[in-house]
Amino acid sequence: MYAKLGESAEFIRSKTKIIPKVGLILGSGLGAFVDRIQNQTVLAYDEIPNFQDCSVEGHQGRLILGEVKGTPIAILQGRVHGYEGFPMEDLVFPTRLLASLGVESLILTNAAGGINLDYIPGDLVMITDHINLMGNNPLVGPNIAELGPRFPDMTEAYNLELRSTLQSAAKEISYELKTGIYAAMLGPTYETPAEVRMAGIMGADMVGMSTVPESIAANHLGIKVCGISCITNMAAGIEKGKLSHDDIKVQAVKVMESFSNLLEMAIGKMGKN
Ligand code: HPA
Repeated sequence: MYAKLGESAEFIRSKTKIIPKVGLILGSGLGAFVDRIQNQTVLAYDEIPNFQDCSVEGHQGRLILGEVKGTPIAILQGRVHGYEGFPMEDLVFPTRLLASLGVESLILTNAAGGINLDYIPGDLVMITDHINLMGNNPLVGPNIAELGPRFPDMTEAYNLELRSTLQSAAKEISYELKTGIYAAMLGPTYETPAEVRMAGIMGADMVGMSTVPESIAANHLGIKVCGISCITNMAAGIEKGKLSHDDIKVQAVKVMESFSNLLEMAIGKMGKN
């Protein structure tokens, strides 16, 4: 794994002079942020050695290196999910690759179902902590000591400094950024109402099928992590009606403008820290 990372990183370095300081993983339907990147070098996932291409509709598999408000950045447009059957190691390969390229701060984004009744679809919520209900952990197996310790601390899995940067970016664009705890399920089914109630009782404010593996891998690596969920729908059973992937995609498109403005502002600030 470690040798594979080196090989992939070397390939990417041969294609661009950008040394990214910030990494960004774009969640389902949130890919349009790439329009905000200057001086782009675009690499399709299938060009990059050892890189797992992603398959789900609405997920394009591209790594884009460039600049956002002067900050050198590497952006992953599309991710592989546990529900596609990939081993956790494949899910976190891109995160580890970003760290190999020099990324110090990682922004994770996703689409999520709202559990907290203060949320409405279209809200952007900053992740303050997570609950791993995926039944797996990307660090299971022999520890790769070059990457990090056997028992990583997760007390501040979502870095306080990055959280305050996100909040101040939100303030500057007059956006009321809500906060919450993200529970990750394996999927691909949306949750049952009973599962959503369970997650709520456990303390979750929203639920989704990603982000937690990458957050764990990044904390293992010792890089700073923050996360933003786009509440595309209220989770099953919170409101009347059923969930549809199409409705969820539509909601992600609607939130794109605020999402992109917030990220652009925050990434500019992260480059200066
Ligand atoms: N549950 C899980 N994942 C999701 C949801 C949801 O309600 N909405 C968007 N991604």
